[in-house]
Amino acid sequence: MREDLKEAAMNLQEKIFDDTKNAFGVPAFERWQKPLYRGGMDNPDGYARITGPCKDTMEIFLKFENDRVKEASFETDGCGSSVVCGSFAAEMALHKTPDELLYVTGEDILERLGGLPEVERHCAFLAGETLQEALNNYMIGQQRK
Ligand code: FES
Repeated sequence: MREDLKEAAMNLQEKIFDDTKNAFGVPAFERWQKPLYRGGMDNPDGYARITGPCKDTMEIFLKFENDRVKEASFETDGCGSSVVCGSFAAEMALHKTPDELLYVTGEDILERLGGLPEVERHCAFLAGETLQEALNNYMIGQQRK
């Protein structure tokens, strides 16, 4: 009986994974299982925190060295898609100059993911907008120096 339950649970988990993979695509599925660059950062050079219309909040942290992003990370209290999009936003920000960062938008994140279901697309825009605001925060800091 126990083995039956274990097998049923494993089959159910496999089905959920397959459904998720089909709905969100392989890159998003893999990143959902293992998000990269998640967590806060002490004394970031650029930082932003934005709460989207869905009430989920995204934070982006950037550290620069020689005018390039040396470290990037994100944190969110949002859905699985927001975790995936925050993770890709941080990854896509790495090693970029401020000018290059301007071109990392929600659309770029969606493109990198190969798209998201319509109801989840705003998660990518929240990540992109937060990244742009973190860049803005960095630029303002640079002007004050
Ligand atoms: Fe709000 Fe995904 S549902 S960020």
